Amino acid sequence: MKKKPIIIGIESSCDETAVSIIQNRYVLSNIVIHQYIHKKYGGVVPELASRLHDKNMIIAVHKSIHSAKIKKNEIDAVSFTLGPGLIGSLLVGASFAKSFSMGLDIPLLTVNHIQAHILTHFIKNSNINNYCPKFPFLSLVISGGHTQIVKVDDFFQMKILGSTLDDAIGDTFDKIARILGFHYPGGPMIELFSKNGNYKKFYFSKPLINGLNFSFSGFKSHILQFIKNKLKKNPLFIKQNISDICASIQRTIAEILLEKMQKATLKTNIFRIALAGGVSANYEIRRMFISFAKKNKKWEIFIPKKEYTTDNGAMIAITGLLKYEKKLFDNIYVSPYSKFKEF
Ligand code: KG4
Ligand code: ZN
Repeated sequence: MKKKPIIIGIESSCDETAVSIIQNRYVLSNIVIHQYIHKKYGGVVPELASRLHDKNMIIAVHKSIHSAKIKKNEIDAVSFTLGPGLIGSLLVGASFAKSFSMGLDIPLLTVNHIQAHILTHFIKNSNINNYCPKFPFLSLVISGGHTQIVKVDDFFQMKILGSTLDDAIGDTFDKIARILGFHYPGGPMIELFSKNGNYKKFYFSKPLINGLNFSFSGFKSHILQFIKNKLKKNPLFIKQNISDICASIQRTIAEILLEKMQKATLKTNIFRIALAGGVSANYEIRRMFISFAKKNKKWEIFIPKKEYTTDNGAMIAITGLLKYEKKLFDNIYVSPYSKFKEF
């Protein structure tokens, strides 16, 4: 029997150096090297990120090949993130992938990072039933840099129905978390501290944005102002109320997302919803979508495995594999781009 193609995926758009190997839509290895250095700066420092990608890329590639139990020359194609992202970081992944493709004389496949978050749903998992969304479906992409509602008609036929007019949701989580005294990335810290909190303790009004767009900048300022005012009266306000503050913010964000997706389903008459991106790791957001889908039988909800929510190489490798199957190869003269491009 003919061997199924083996694809390596290289992700370096932000602060994770991630490499994964996929065959037949199953993940053979998935290595992520996190860059903890940014914690102390409250956000990703682009130059430090590029330098660390450069240092860690070869290590991640070696680990990935080793843990997939394959030989380098069994790899059939190399896929990598072309954009959007930090340009210095992307260049490291791009240069590596181009050299790898030339050295092994194998095809090169470029990947749009956002499209890859969406396509993680097509990764097969050996121990759970392989349940992936049928087309068309709606993807809610919630990450550090993006917040979008995307109609997915096919693997590479996607249309943006709504997006943020200002800040992305992950960035909102991170900025609020910073004021609360948490290190970067703050989203997981807000989730952690919400566990013992009462979400009804503080009320934050939700942004009123028409259609399927989002806006988080006013919401963020409203919370920052609220906290500043409280601190003036009681300098221990954050310390004494941290769990309730986190739970109230997290709950409000989850409600904003759920309400928008309800609108999107009614507008499109599509009730298959797939969450994607780093913020979809959030327990409360997942719980609220699952619970809504249980009550509303028309809804079918798809939640990625936790390891495929934040940036990872498997999402790049699966997108590469899907492109490989359609022979959507690229040449080595492609250049990374930092700003989001329409799919
Ligand atoms: O998708 P991702 O890894 O990177 C981008 O493509 O931007 O998303 C990173 C974002 C960060 O803002 C981080 O705070 C957020 O995802 N995040 C979370 C959680 N885990 C990661 N936000 C809320 N709750 C979480 N559990
Ligand atoms: Zn991402």
